[in-house]
Amino acid sequence: MCGIVAYTGNRSATPILVHGLRKLEYRGYDSAGIAVQREGSLAIYKKEGKVANLAELLGDYRQDPEHTEAHVGIAHTRWATHGPPTTGNAHPHCGGENRIALVHNGIIENYRPLKAKLEAQGRVFLSDTDSEVLAQLIDSLYEEDLVTAVLAALKEVEGTFGIACISREEPGRLVTARRGSPIVIGLGEDETIVASDASAIISHTRQAIYLDDNDIAIIDGGKVDIRTLDAIPVQRDASDIDWSPDAAEKGGYEHYMLKEIFEQPEAVRNTIRGRVDLERGSALLSGLNLTPRELVEFRRLLIVGCGTSLNAGLVGEYAVEDFAGMLAEVEQAAEFRYRNPIVGAKDIVIAISQSGETADTLAAVREAADKGALVAGLVNVVGSTIAREAGRGIYLHAGPEISVASTKAFTCQVSVLLLIALKLARSNRLSRESGVKIANEIGRIPELIQEVLEQNEAIAEVAKDFVGYEHMFYIGRGYMFPVALEGALKLKEISYIHAEAYNAAELKHGPIALLDENMPVVALLNQGPGQEKTVGNVEECRARKAPVLGVITQGDEEAKAACDWVIEVPASPHYTTTITATVALQLFSYHVARLRGCAIDQPRNLAKSVTVE
Ligand code: G6P
Repeated sequence: MCGIVAYTGNRSATPILVHGLRKLEYRGYDSAGIAVQREGSLAIYKKEGKVANLAELLGDYRQDPEHTEAHVGIAHTRWATHGPPTTGNAHPHCGGENRIALVHNGIIENYRPLKAKLEAQGRVFLSDTDSEVLAQLIDSLYEEDLVTAVLAALKEVEGTFGIACISREEPGRLVTARRGSPIVIGLGEDETIVASDASAIISHTRQAIYLDDNDIAIIDGGKVDIRTLDAIPVQRDASDIDWSPDAAEKGGYEHYMLKEIFEQPEAVRNTIRGRVDLERGSALLSGLNLTPRELVEFRRLLIVGCGTSLNAGLVGEYAVEDFAGMLAEVEQAAEFRYRNPIVGAKDIVIAISQSGETADTLAAVREAADKGALVAGLVNVVGSTIAREAGRGIYLHAGPEISVASTKAFTCQVSVLLLIALKLARSNRLSRESGVKIANEIGRIPELIQEVLEQNEAIAEVAKDFVGYEHMFYIGRGYMFPVALEGALKLKEISYIHAEAYNAAELKHGPIALLDENMPVVALLNQGPGQEKTVGNVEECRARKAPVLGVITQGDEEAKAACDWVIEVPASPHYTTTITATVALQLFSYHVARLRGCAIDQPRNLAKSVTVE
C-alpha cells in the first residue's frame, strides 16, 4: 500500500526520506519517488520498482549539494490503483512546472470531472493518476499561500487522502492533511518527520501526533500548527510511540514473517495479560465498555473483517455460539456494507483489523454505527482509524506486524475472541466451573504455541516434499474449518501455490473431482468433534491417489496411519487448537515459500494494509 514520508528541519532531507521509504517497504508498493526543495526550486526523482532503484537514481545523495543543502522534502511508495506501476505514475506529482509537489495516499473519487475542468483551463497531465489531479488542482488555486491553496483544493475533492505537499516558493514549509488515510507527525528537535506509518519515524523520535480526519498541519522545521480543513486551529496531543526501533527490525531472523511467527507466544501473552480472570472463570475486557445488561440483551454479535482477520472472526463466531449459546455471525466487511445489512441497536458489531486502516472494514464500522449498532474494534495498531472511530474495543498489543502475510495478529485476534466468547458465556449460561476450565485453556495458549515452534525443523523437512506442487486443498470441520481457510490463505499469499480450503464435508460436492496424485490435501485431523468423519474424508482422498498431509494431535497413531505426512501439535480443546494448528501451517507455508525462493515478506501484488475499497 502507498506510503508517505516527509521531512522539514536542519538536516539534509534526502537520506532521511530514503531511510523512511525503506522502513515502509514492508507495506507493499511498486514504485517510489522523492521531491526536495532547494534554493527556490524543487527537484523530483521517481523510479518504478524498489526503493533501491530510486536510491541508485539519486546517486551520491549524501555528498551531492543538490541534496545536502535541501532541508525539506516529501517521498512516497506507490501501490498502483489508477494507472500502471510506471515511473510516470509514481509520486510526487507536480503542478505548474514544478511549483508544488505532492504525495498522496488514498483515492480522489471525483478525479474525472476535476481533470476535465483543469484540462479545459489548458493544463496538461503527465500521468494517469487521480493524485496528479489533486496536485494540479492545488497548483491552479495557488496564489501566494500554499495552505490556502491546499484547503481550497481539498474542499473540491471527494474521496480519501493522506497528503504531504511542498512549494518551491515557501522554503522550509511542509503541509500535510488527512481524510481516511493515516498521517503521523513525528516531533524532533527543530525538525519534524511526517509519515503514513510510525515505522518510518521511530528511529528519529518517539513523540508523535496522529492527525484526525479533516485535519491539516502546517509545519516549519520543528513548529507544527494544526487546523481543521475549515482553518480552525485545533489542539492534538502528542503521544509516545511505544515501539522500539529494534522491535521493528528482523531481530536476526531471515524474514519478518519468521520473526513474527516466533514472537507469537510473547504476543499472545501480551494480548491476554490482565484479561483472563482465572478466579471467576471469565474475562476482563473493560475496553468493550458493555454494561451487564448489554452483555445479555443483545440480539446477535456480528463480526466483520477482511483476509486473515476475517478467518479469525470465523473462530470467534464458532466460539460465541459454542460457549455462550448466543447468535454470532461473521461477514466479509465489504459484503456486509454493500448488501444493505439488517443491523440495528440490538446488535454488537466487532470490527477486526490488524492495521485498523482497512478501507472495507472501516466502511463496515461506519455503516454499522449509522444503523445504530454498538460497534467495537479489535485492532492492533494503536491510534488507527478503526480504533478511533469504533470508540471502544480491545487492542491486541501484538507489536508491529511488518510481514505482509499476517501471523501473530491472527493468533492474538483469536485469543481475544475466545475471551469475548467466554465473557458473553459467563454473563449468560456458562457455569463458573466451566468458565474456569476455558480460562485456564486460554492461559495455556503461549506455551502450546511454544511447543509447536519447537517443531520448526521437522515442519521444514515436511515442506521439502511440497515445493513442486502447484495446487493444494485444505480441509477441516467445525473449529478446524477456519484453520483450513487460514492455512490455505497463508500458502497462496507467500508461495503462490494455488490453495483452496473446504469444509471437509463439502469436498464430495464438487472439489473431489479435482483429486489425483498432483493435488495434495492438508487435513486438519486433530482429536476432537468431527475427527473421525474427517479421517473418512482423508480415506476418500487417498483412494483417489491424492497425497495427504495431516495436522494431528501429538501421539495420535490412528490419525498418523491415515496420512502420508504428519505435523503434530499438542493436545488441546479444538477452540485453542485453532491457534496451534494455524501456527504449524504458518511454518509450513513459510518453508515451502522459502524453498521456492519467493519474496516472503513482500509477496507480489499484495499490500499489508488495503486502504482502498
Ligand atoms: C491485507 C493483508 C492481509 C490482512 C488483510 C486485512 O489483505 O495482506 O494480511 O489480513 O489486509 O488487514 P487488517 O489490517 O484489516 O487486519
